[in-house]
Amino acid sequence: MIRDCTPVDLDVVHALHVDAVLHSTAIWQDEPHPRAYFDDWLAERRADGYPVLVAEVDGAVAGYATYSAFRPHQGYRHTVEHSVYVVEAFRGRGVATVLMDALTSEARAEGRHVMMAGICSSNTASIALHERLGFTTVGVLPEVGRKFDRWLDLTLMRLPLS
Ligand SMILES: CC(C)(COP(=O)(O)OP(=O)(O)OC[C@H]1O[C@@H](n2cnc3c(N)ncnc32)[C@H](O)[C@@H]1OP(=O)(O)O)[C@@H](O)C(=O)NCCC(=O)NCCS
Repeated sequence: MIRDCTPVDLDVVHALHVDAVLHSTAIWQDEPHPRAYFDDWLAERRADGYPVLVAEVDGAVAGYATYSAFRPHQGYRHTVEHSVYVVEAFRGRGVATVLMDALTSEARAEGRHVMMAGICSSNTASIALHERLGFTTVGVLPEVGRKFDRWLDLTLMRLPLS
C-alpha cells in the first residue's frame, strides 16, 4: 500500500538515512542527521507542496520516495529531483517500483515536466531500477563527490513526464 508519510513513519525514514550515510554512497554525506531533523524536513516538504510517500507491507513501512526542487531558481519549477529508499529486508520485491509509479503519477498530476535522479555511478542497483522505470542517462559527472576516501562520479538520469 502506498500512502502519504506521517510523523510516526519518520523513525523508519531516519533509520534508512542513517544506514545509507554510514554504509553506502547512496547519499554523499559523512554524518547522519539526527532524528529530530526529519520532523522539520517532513513539515517543509508538505508546506512546499512536495509529496513524501511511504510503502507499507503487512503493516510495516518498507520504504519511501519523495521529490523536491531540482534547482532553486524559478525557471526550474517544472523539474523535480527525487529519492527512493527501501528497507533492506524488503528489497527485490518491487517496492521501489510501486513507490516510483505512485511518485511519477503524483508529479504528472502536479504538472511537472521532468523528473531527475542524481545517482552515484557505482550504485548499479539504483541505475538498473531507474533504467527499468524509463529514465535515461543524460550525463556522468566524474569525481564531483568524495566519500570513504575515494572520488565519486555522479550519473544524472532523466524521465520526461509530459
Ligand atoms: C535501489 C533500491 C531503491 C531498489 O529498491 P527495490 O525495492 O529492491 O527495487 P525493485 O524490487 O522495485 O526492483 C526493480 C528493478 O530494479 C533493478 N534492481 C533492483 N535492485 C537491484 C540490484 N540489487 N541489482 C541489480 N538490479 C536491481 C532491477 O532491474 C529490478 O527489476 P527485476 O526485479 O525485474 O530485476 C534499493 O536497493 C535501495 O533502497 N537501495 C539503497 C538506497 C538507494 O540506493 N537508493 C537510491 C538512491 S539514488
